[in-house]
Amino acid sequence: MSEMFKGSFTQQEPIPEEGIEAAITVMRSGRLHRYNTVPGEVAQTVLLEQEFAAMLGVKYCLAVASGGYAMATALRAVGVKPGDRVLTNAFTLAPVPGAIAAVGAVPVFVGVTESLVIDLVDLAAKAAHADVLLLSHMRGHLADMEALMAICDGAGIIVIEDCAHTMGATWKGVASGTQGRVGCYSCQTYKHVNSGEGGLLVTDDAEVAARAVMLSGSYMLYEKHLAGPPKEAFETIRYETPNISGRMDNLRAAILRPQLRDLEVQVARWNERYYAVEDGLRDTPGLTVIERPEDESIVGSSIQFLLKGWSAKAVGEVLARCLKRGVELKWFGGAEPVGFTSRYDSWRYVDAPRMPESDKVLAGIVDMRVPLTFSIEDCAMIARIIKAEVGAVYQAGH
Ligand SMILES: Cc1ncc(COP(=O)(O)O)c(C=O)c1O
Repeated sequence: MSEMFKGSFTQQEPIPEEGIEAAITVMRSGRLHRYNTVPGEVAQTVLLEQEFAAMLGVKYCLAVASGGYAMATALRAVGVKPGDRVLTNAFTLAPVPGAIAAVGAVPVFVGVTESLVIDLVDLAAKAAHADVLLLSHMRGHLADMEALMAICDGAGIIVIEDCAHTMGATWKGVASGTQGRVGCYSCQTYKHVNSGEGGLLVTDDAEVAARAVMLSGSYMLYEKHLAGPPKEAFETIRYETPNISGRMDNLRAAILRPQLRDLEVQVARWNERYYAVEDGLRDTPGLTVIERPEDESIVGSSIQFLLKGWSAKAVGEVLARCLKRGVELKWFGGAEPVGFTSRYDSWRYVDAPRMPESDKVLAGIVDMRVPLTFSIEDCAMIARIIKAEVGAVYQAGH
């Protein structure tokens, strides 16, 4: 009898009891709006911002409605205007080019390497095309950040980091999201902290922070932002920055604060699971494991591998055979966007030239969520199933 996996790939852990208690207290107070405080009270949203800023060692933090909202706000705050071109990854998910489109700007895609990071050669070649890079650390893969920042600094490109998949990750010990001008995080259910929806934006730049606060809908209550810049930073910009409401509320912040405190422990648990799958997949003929650089400290909330040079039919067969045994894999080579998975040529509002080298890589990327509700034995079993099914299709001729 072949093994069957019975777990759910979309089941999160419950919100910690402390977060549930804090959320109930907020609900009992009735004061869910971040600016609705009684004298002497500091809103949960403000505490969350202070705690996240301290955790990353950055000056300013703003909590917002979603990761997508954080990225669009960051683009506006650094001065991106309608019609501007913005560099971004060809290998990412729809909210990233969507944030660029939201400000009326035009995405210019940069290729992906077999390590699943932005292609720095292509980035250097396109550096003259734009003033801003919205860098997506897609599926948690960090590019060589020193080399990337050297290219961007040399070309005068402002970097905004999309850290939806790297909250808790570092490059050479430096937290993801703190090397660019702005770091953007998502607190949506499938990310590293879960408030259903939500986002965080961090920066050391007082003007960018002030603009972001105004954009998020602070009316003239910005002095309540204890993780925001000093009031002088708002003197001029408060008249010229539109209110594009997208605040976070106290209920979400209350749920998130204990999760942030637990993040380090959760990261270790994710990585135990990730490496259990990775170990199990090693030495599978036809399957390439993505080797993670020593300089990268990861958060293994998902895992990818490559089926290099495989036909679409054979990859489809692997996916179908794994699914029959309870293992849900996603594929970035599909012609049609499916569920959360799409690719640069799915976003037809962008007039993007074909990228043959990236197409080759995308055609082989297989992707799997690693929720914390899986045990280590679950992960080992999943790897055995994938190994067996990849092996069977490979032997039959891929
Ligand atoms: C790579 C990437 N960036 C950004 C986001 C945006 O996050 P949110 O759903 O909070 O808008 C997502 C969400 O799936 C994502 O996968």
